Amino acid sequence: MRNSDKEYIFAGHKLLFRVIKPHIVDQIISTARVEDIIDDYVNLNRRGTNLVGLCPFHDEKTPSFSVSPAKNIYKCFGCGKAGDSITFLMEHEHFTFPEALRHLAQRYNIEIEEEERSDEQKELQQKKDSLLLINEMAAKYFTSQLKETEEGQTIGLSYFKHRGLLSHTIDTFGLGYSAQSYDAFKAYALNLGYKEKLLQQLGLISASGNDFFRERVIFPFHNLSGKVIGFGGRILKDNVKAPKYLNSPESEIYNKRKTLYGLYQAKGAIRQSDSCILVEGYTDVLSLYQNDIKNVVASSGTSLTPQQVGLIKRFAGNVIVLYDGDTAGQKAAQRGLNIFLEYDINVKIVILPEGHDPDSYIQMIGAQDFKNFITNEGRDFIILLAQDIEQLYSDNPIEKSVQIKELVNSLSLMQDQIKRQLYVKQCAQILHVEESSLFQEINKMIRTRIKKASYKRPKQVPTEYNPPEANIDFDPNADHSQRIRGMGSDNLDYQERDVVRVLISDGDKIHNEEAQESIGLFIIDNLKDIMEMISDPLHKQIFEEYHTLLNNDIVPDRQYWLRHSNQDIRALALSLLSDKYTYAKWSEKGLELQTQKPIEENYIKDSHQALLRYKLKKVKERVQELQRLFDQQEDDKRDIVLLTAFQALIQERQTLANKLKMTVM
Ligand code: UTP
Ligand code: MN
Repeated sequence: MRNSDKEYIFAGHKLLFRVIKPHIVDQIISTARVEDIIDDYVNLNRRGTNLVGLCPFHDEKTPSFSVSPAKNIYKCFGCGKAGDSITFLMEHEHFTFPEALRHLAQRYNIEIEEEERSDEQKELQQKKDSLLLINEMAAKYFTSQLKETEEGQTIGLSYFKHRGLLSHTIDTFGLGYSAQSYDAFKAYALNLGYKEKLLQQLGLISASGNDFFRERVIFPFHNLSGKVIGFGGRILKDNVKAPKYLNSPESEIYNKRKTLYGLYQAKGAIRQSDSCILVEGYTDVLSLYQNDIKNVVASSGTSLTPQQVGLIKRFAGNVIVLYDGDTAGQKAAQRGLNIFLEYDINVKIVILPEGHDPDSYIQMIGAQDFKNFITNEGRDFIILLAQDIEQLYSDNPIEKSVQIKELVNSLSLMQDQIKRQLYVKQCAQILHVEESSLFQEINKMIRTRIKKASYKRPKQVPTEYNPPEANIDFDPNADHSQRIRGMGSDNLDYQERDVVRVLISDGDKIHNEEAQESIGLFIIDNLKDIMEMISDPLHKQIFEEYHTLLNNDIVPDRQYWLRHSNQDIRALALSLLSDKYTYAKWSEKGLELQTQKPIEENYIKDSHQALLRYKLKKVKERVQELQRLFDQQEDDKRDIVLLTAFQALIQERQTLANKLKMTVM
């Protein structure tokens, strides 16, 4: 097996097959020292032949986390977590298996040869890689400016010191300084052979050809693996006309909607505490972090996006939003917070005393009092809203009812029914209204939202995709089951077919209102990585065409497929859209659709379930395939690569099954 030329590693949740050559994987696994890797995250002390420290996976005061360099494994005697470098990274960093491999490969300078990517993909990756390299160079340049030049020290460093930042904080966040000169950086970079065009794309050089950041202190932005994707530069003199912060423009590697400042440094602490503190400014992050409140990120002054909330959700289920004292009023009413409800994240709000932001307040009262303050003052977002309404509008019934509508909107976005009920009860009490009338409003709101989403007209489909004269050339009432390829045959992939059904029938509806994301986009995004594994060519064709359409900003509706120029697609669409048929087939296979409401009202859940079922099926297939391979090998000759992949798969199977259970509830 080891010598066959087609082997693959299964990638955690993405289900992507990407070939990392097995001998490279072996090399990575044998080179990685578990004690090195863990040392990045845990303070380890030698005890006999082992190393011990505080377990990063659970809260403890005395160390029970033990690392054995000899065996190259770790084990916690407190919580039972155990494994090797790879599992550590997968657990701790939320890496997928290949991500962990790549991370290790990079750390130990092992070159990974990857194959089976299209030229286009390769080109894009190369472009991204070179942009990341440029930013890395620039970040180093800014740090050395800060620390090693006289200008940097007297202006930049003394500014940071004046703000109370210690050297280790400056290092952890890679802070830097850009000189007053108009072209010092440009000259430096060009001299090293970097291309001006790329420097401009990253915004390091402005359109006019000068250095973009001049006489500013620099805050690099990192992605989740610690690569520098952009910069913010703060002006040093107040009351100057120029903007206080200049930020890198968006680029192929930097999307501000998907970035949270400080997440790279904070993610371990966020995961460990299951809680994330959200502040506004870069300096607030630095200040809290330095005071040992490490689970902190900044939204960077803009209102929060669903992508950012999704990022947080990967690491924690609780968020504490810190508001500056003077802006709290309008902010609390902002819709940004509703996104948390949609992601089923618990939100607490802490309003700082007037005139303070988190940075100034923690510097004034100190770390311990600040922590106490957060714990004591944290108020539930919904309850806060209700109390504010009651306080401000109790004798103005008209305005009060308008405000209650807003509150009801928030309640209607809550995903967890039980939680919602509890909130409704409390709100009804606070507002002195009937629970039942709140529920009535909530249900109305949900219904309108569904309607609105399903009536949203798709954009005009251009003619090459939608021949206007296309005629449906058979009777929709006839039994066309025989016409549809694969139907009736036992190897028809029902799960796959069901994903196609959701795509065709509900693809144009809204999956995420804030993000203006359609169900179709959601599904295609989730399928991108498994295009190779799609079993039916017609399904594949539909997925690919869907992808192309989305890339052209077109969201096709049902009619689009019913009038498709390809007769097989038309036939498939028709049969999928006749509900009876679909339901019948499902129940025949013992796969009842487990939704209580009519499917029209449940399409978001429906799409999630269809997708999860399909993924689960693909994982199961893979498990079986690997099992067969193992069966051909003798016990002690089992391929370590496959074995690890196998374990990752089993884990993935469990995760998917759990998720499916949750969505079925
Ligand atoms: P603040 O003005 O509160 O900045 O803006 P700050 O980070 O607390 O800075 P100090 O304490 O005055 O040094 C909050 C955030 O809004 C974004 C930045 O992300 C900033 O951290 N912002 C603000 C900009 O991007 N550009 C601006 O011109 C101002
Ligand atoms: Mn500030």
